[in-house]
Amino acid sequence: MSTPSTTGPTIGVFDSGFGGLTVLRALLPLIPGANYIYLGDTARLPYGAKSQQTIARYAVSSAEFLLDEGAEMLVIACNTATAMALPEIEAAMPIPVVGVIRPGTEAAREAGEHDVLVLATSATVQSGAYTRACASVGLQAYEKACPLLVPMVEEGWINHKVTAEVLRIYLDEAFAEAPNAHTLLLGCTHYPLLKPMIERTLEEMGHPMRIVDSAATTAQAAARVIESKLPRVSSPGAEINCTFFATDSVEKFQRLGGVFLGQPLPQVSLVDLGG
Ligand code: DGL
Repeated sequence: MSTPSTTGPTIGVFDSGFGGLTVLRALLPLIPGANYIYLGDTARLPYGAKSQQTIARYAVSSAEFLLDEGAEMLVIACNTATAMALPEIEAAMPIPVVGVIRPGTEAAREAGEHDVLVLATSATVQSGAYTRACASVGLQAYEKACPLLVPMVEEGWINHKVTAEVLRIYLDEAFAEAPNAHTLLLGCTHYPLLKPMIERTLEEMGHPMRIVDSAATTAQAAARVIESKLPRVSSPGAEINCTFFATDSVEKFQRLGGVFLGQPLPQVSLVDLGG
């Protein structure tokens, strides 16, 4: 990934950690001429176990950092921040903001089933954001909080037997509530890394499901915003320019981030956004 200057728009992408890199991964081929600035707020992760006020404070300060770095639009690549703080972020930002809940719901609707099982953080489930978004397009969402999965993914345990066992317990509990759900919406940007494990576990449990995540549909939503509000994407084939920031260990971010992005990360810079 080289770093020439391009004439495309500058897109700020943020998540509490690595998970948002799955969204950046979907953005890169779709909007190739853009400059990307990614922030992983790893020092304050997990957002998903915190209160609305704290999540909003963290999310707004992360958004302000990206604005100061030159972002012309913002992709909140975090379900928890979108579910808990979208209005606060929009109010603080003079630039277009795209969240992941609405695009995730669109992805679920494309799957064509009525009952949707949403796996998410405790905060996202508590917000009821997916239940409302799904109801608005005629879907019934069953939200299941899976608070142990984010720390396991952040630990790199995407193929670990303990993660598999925890996942099975969560799915078992979820099916007691939603036995007819055959669409599984990954309502946390960390969970796409567990997709192979989820597929295996569902197969073992004899409960086939169509797994959807919001990465691709969020990238499409961002592309539509750019087309209408920042129409100066440079030509396909332009070099990709990505800058990465993390609020905690840059070494760990660089090492594990490549798994989420699907390619090695260049240099990651440390930034202190306070507590
Ligand atoms: N990636 C975040 C999400 O999509 C969750 C991580 C966290 O709890 O901070 O909800």
